[in-house]
Amino acid sequence: MVLSRPASLHAAPVIPARTMRSAAAFRDVRVAAPAHGSAGRARRGAVRPRAADPRSVIHNTDADDTSSATFRRRLSLAASTAFGAASLAAPALADELSSVDLSSVDPAVAGVGAAALAAAALVASRAGGGGAGPRPAGTATTLPGATPMTRGAGESDDSKRRGYLIAPPPLFPLVPAFARQTYRYEVDPGRMWFFEQKQGIGLGLNVSVNVRMTVIKLKTGGLWVHAPVAPTQECIALLAELDAPVEHIVLPTTLFEHKIFVGPFQRRFPEAETWIAPDQWSWPVNLPPAFFGIFPTGVLGRDAASWEDEFEYEMLQPPALGVASYVSFTECAFLHKPSKTLLVTDAVVYVSENAPDAIPDADLLESGDDNNFTIGALKFLNLFDIKTKAKARTVTSDDMSEAQRLRLGWQRNALQALYFGPSNLLDPEQSWARITNKLLVAPVVSTLVYENIPREVDDWARRVGKMGRFERIVPCHFDAPIRAGPKEWNAAFGFLPSSRPEEGKEGRYYPDEDMVLLRGVEDFLQGTGVIFTDESRPKYGRINVRAEERRSAAKR
Ligand SMILES: [Fe+2]
Repeated sequence: MVLSRPASLHAAPVIPARTMRSAAAFRDVRVAAPAHGSAGRARRGAVRPRAADPRSVIHNTDADDTSSATFRRRLSLAASTAFGAASLAAPALADELSSVDLSSVDPAVAGVGAAALAAAALVASRAGGGGAGPRPAGTATTLPGATPMTRGAGESDDSKRRGYLIAPPPLFPLVPAFARQTYRYEVDPGRMWFFEQKQGIGLGLNVSVNVRMTVIKLKTGGLWVHAPVAPTQECIALLAELDAPVEHIVLPTTLFEHKIFVGPFQRRFPEAETWIAPDQWSWPVNLPPAFFGIFPTGVLGRDAASWEDEFEYEMLQPPALGVASYVSFTECAFLHKPSKTLLVTDAVVYVSENAPDAIPDADLLESGDDNNFTIGALKFLNLFDIKTKAKARTVTSDDMSEAQRLRLGWQRNALQALYFGPSNLLDPEQSWARITNKLLVAPVVSTLVYENIPREVDDWARRVGKMGRFERIVPCHFDAPIRAGPKEWNAAFGFLPSSRPEEGKEGRYYPDEDMVLLRGVEDFLQGTGVIFTDESRPKYGRINVRAEERRSAAKR
């Protein structure tokens, strides 16, 4: 069953089909700067004249006035909350019984949590005021040296259907739940393409990133598909236009945001071989991949694949991260030798002014609105001393042009994805300047994952850095391809074993003020035993025993 997008639940305007930029031009403009490169270099195409952008026109209509926007926010909140509740019955919402991840939690616990969050959201939404009163006059400014925000030029096709129903577990409600637009980018003419879709967190938070599937044409003439995205009709049509058979589907991680579409993708291409990272898991019941419709041809690191003459790969296989003795954060990094490209999943990111096409302007404008749900909730709870910061402001989103609000929205959106809660969501320029235009491990990954398994991550990063002379890196989120090699890769892991500064010292890797919430969350999760430390990690369990054996072997 494939559903078309219910217009009432998604305020994002329909974006007309775009013309694909010529491959050469695209490659020139899209390749990101190295970590030490010029921060002022535009990376993703010429600045699109906002007035000529059909999305801008849509947002300049009366339909987007304050009351309508408030209504849209509340509708979106209600819809995502309803979705979160509905996903408690996840198996019943299967797309042909295919795209359901049956990871679940106690329905009663999740239901109470969802209801409490929804109630808080509605209260906060009202407290935020929706239509604000008069604002002090002023002019929005940016820090000197900030690069102009640009959007890419991926190809999409409105004539193809985008409906795709997913039902992820309620504690991690992935959105969009009903439809996903796909953008295709040709990176190397005739050899490498990106397919990108939006991926966000539900429950009205409006925090999204792009999720990227990379497709490489092998010497055989067939396609090697890395980390599949939702196989909507549009996505499949864009893939079919490459006029080559899908020969291999690769699942490079154990995380369900990249796993959820592997089964459906495999059914679309039953002739393809499917290769999965080891140690796949589900929670609270640890079910085999076949239960989720994934029937692997082989397991990476264990079984030989026919494409291995074109790739090298190194596996991160750490001990259990937390929650249960089998929950691991496994990732496989691939070096595509012909193109000298390193493919990773969540290991590193490069964040810049380039808002992904996959995130609609409506979402960015919502994030750039000072009266949105998140800021309303922060004000309601007065977190990060936001009320004082709000009073001190001379410029608000009401004073900004649409382009300025789009940029502010992208900053807030990206910073929330990276930190959960940066120090100043109202005016994020300082935080933005310190995290952008460099290759780095996302703070949420380093804090909640890597710093808890530092030895294994450090060992893996070193092995990847020695794998070969790669010249660019392609992660599954944010900018890509990033022009970076082993030097930049190694530097990105320079925070290990911990990014926390010594007592009384300033953090060198991340700004300490932005890490307050994440480190607090880490302390809480470690203190309650949700995230394991070496001391609290169960000694039993296959992956823990294996990791211990590796550590012992390394000592010898
Ligand atoms: Fe990811």
